[in-house]
Formats: sequence, structure tokens, C-alpha cells
Amino acid sequence: MPVVAFYSKNSKIELMEEWEYRLKSYLPSIKLVNLLNYESENAITALLWNAPLQRVKELKNLKCLISLGQGVDHILKDNIIDKKIPIVRIVDPFMAKSMSHWVIMSVLNFIRDTFGYHDQQKTKTYEARQEINFTNVKIAIYGIGAIGNVVAKDLKQLGFKVEGWSRTFKDIDGITCHNGRDKFEFLLKSSDIHICLLPLTSETVNIFDNSSLNMMKFGSCFINAGRGEQVVEEDLIKYCKSGRIASAILDVYCKEPLPKNSKLWKQENIRIWPHVAAETNPETAAKQIAKAIKCVEKGLIPPNLIERKRGY
Ligand code: NAP
Ligand code: GLV
Repeated sequence: MPVVAFYSKNSKIELMEEWEYRLKSYLPSIKLVNLLNYESENAITALLWNAPLQRVKELKNLKCLISLGQGVDHILKDNIIDKKIPIVRIVDPFMAKSMSHWVIMSVLNFIRDTFGYHDQQKTKTYEARQEINFTNVKIAIYGIGAIGNVVAKDLKQLGFKVEGWSRTFKDIDGITCHNGRDKFEFLLKSSDIHICLLPLTSETVNIFDNSSLNMMKFGSCFINAGRGEQVVEEDLIKYCKSGRIASAILDVYCKEPLPKNSKLWKQENIRIWPHVAAETNPETAAKQIAKAIKCVEKGLIPPNLIERKRGY
């Protein structure tokens, strides 16, 4: 019987039960145990989201860690975990579509000025606001991996010009793809809407800082659903105040939950979402997690391993 250590949102019992129920469809004898309980010490795999890593390190039988999300920065942070332990992440088309819906909503709210009309309603103002011609809008997507490439294709389908940026060169039908620092700057300068879907690594931390935000066109829109630490929040607020960034839609923050005293809350052209753009869905993700657990039990290499060296 596979015993799997579990930690997500403080190992809330209902959540652990939900995962166990979903995993049982593929592994009927599986048992999830709270990472913080002594029983977890026999586990050879662990399912983790924002777990206390010192506790994970204490489990000497672990042969594999599985991230309960597509990102793994929560496991790699502070370099606590033994570099030899493989790390598996979720790659779920449901999550990619869910992110795509959130991004499309954010883009359409910007170009149709949804919040301007909300404000007009308060004063009973029945007037057309200036509409942006979508055929002239160029959208840059930073990070065109499992999620970003789905978002890019869906936005393209809606009639936008879409260009992508990644670490290595990508060839995606209908999308102009770039890589390299000079092309990052080219996209910053030439695009109207910027979407960050990058993983957090030593190369992407603070990538949207004073110098890169200052390259954006006046009146740009900035959307971040990658990770908060990719943005210098003080610099973002400065450019939202100046109007260089006309609208910022954020789902992720340097510190989560976003502290009550964060200045981001008060900046009226910044929209705050509480890290929900694409949530992990046990119903759709259980099959691949069960497969990974089975592989570990049999001593095989599980799918969707991350590369420690590149950080994602
Ligand atoms: P992925 O498949 O690993 O794709 C990552 C993309 O970023 C790839 O295109 C990669 O380039 C590119 N990249 C990585 N480092 C780079 C660098 N230094 N310079 C340029 N491009 C770089 O990841 P994913 O599954 O799409 O997920 C991306 C991130 O989204 C996650 O890590 C997580 O932070 C975030 N996320 C957020 C939510 C949410 O609800 N807000 C939900 C899920 C995920 P290559 O193609 O060359 O490798
Ligand atoms: C969510 O942020 C994830 O990485 O899946």
C-alpha cells in the first residue's frame, strides 16, 4: 500500500481527503498522511504545496517530491532539499485552459475598458468610451511553455497579434517566437500588452524592474500570473502612477497572502486577484500524480520531472 506524505494549505483535512478520493480511482490502496505526523516518516513520495521544507528534509525514505502545482519554486527555495531527490510537477491542460480564460478576461477588460464603464455607472453616465482597435494590439507573452503556449494560441485565435519569449527558441504555429535578452527588450518596447507566465528562477527574479518597465510604451497593460518576485512591486506602482502602465492585473505577489498594508491594494489602476488564475484541480490532475507515484514505487522514472539546474 503506497503511503504518501501530504501537505497543502496546512494539510487541511478536507483537501487531503479530496486528493485521496481522486487518487484512489487509479491507486485503490493509496493512503495519504499528513506530512507533519510521525506516520509520514515511512513515505517514499510526498505531495507538496508550500510545505515546511525542514520537515520534508527529515523524511529519510523519500524518493520523489511531487509539486501540487505547475510551479516548483516553493520546493526549490532556499536550497534545502537534497539535490538528488527528483521533483515532479503537474502539467495539466485543464490548468492551461483555466489560465487562458483568466488572461483573455484580463485582456478584454483592458481593451473594452470594463472598469471605466463600471465607474460611469456610479454617476449614471451613458457615454461611449474610446475603444482600442484590437487589430493594432500586440501582445507579448513572457514564458511560452505548457501554459503560455496555450494562452498564446487562444489570444491569436481572438484576432490579436501575439509574440512569445522563452529561454530556448520555440517554433509555435502562428506565433512569432523569440529568445534572448535583446528580444526581451524588443518585446518590452514594441508590445501593448505584456503577460508574464514565467517560472520563478534565479534568471527571472526581478525581471520586471525599473529598467524593463520603463521600456514599455506609455499606456501599456501588464498582466502577471507567473510569480510575484518577478516584479519589483515599488517600480510597478511608480509606473502605474505615471500612466506608462495604464492597467496592471496581478494574481501573484512577493508576499502571499498580499499583506493588508501593501501599497498595491490602493493603486486604482492595479487589479488584485488572490492567486487563483489557474488553480490545481484534483479531479483533472489525479491521474498523472497516480502515474508518478506508481513509477516511484516500481523504481521507474516518473513523467514531468523538472530540471534542477535550470530551476523549473
Ligand atoms: P513551463 O512549461 O516550464 O514553461 C516555462 C516557460 O518559461 C518556458 O517557455 C521557458 O522557456 C520559459 N522560461 C523559463 N526561464 C526563462 C528565462 N530565464 N528566460 C526566458 N524564458 C524562460 O511552465 P508552465 O507550466 O507553463 O508554468 C509557468 C509558471 O506559471 C509556473 O512556474 C508558475 O510560476 C506559474 N503558474 C501560475 C499559476 C497561477 O494560478 N497564477 C498557475 C500555474 C502556474 P523554455 O521553453 O525555453 O524552457
Ligand atoms: C500555481 O501557481 C502553480 O504553480 O500551479
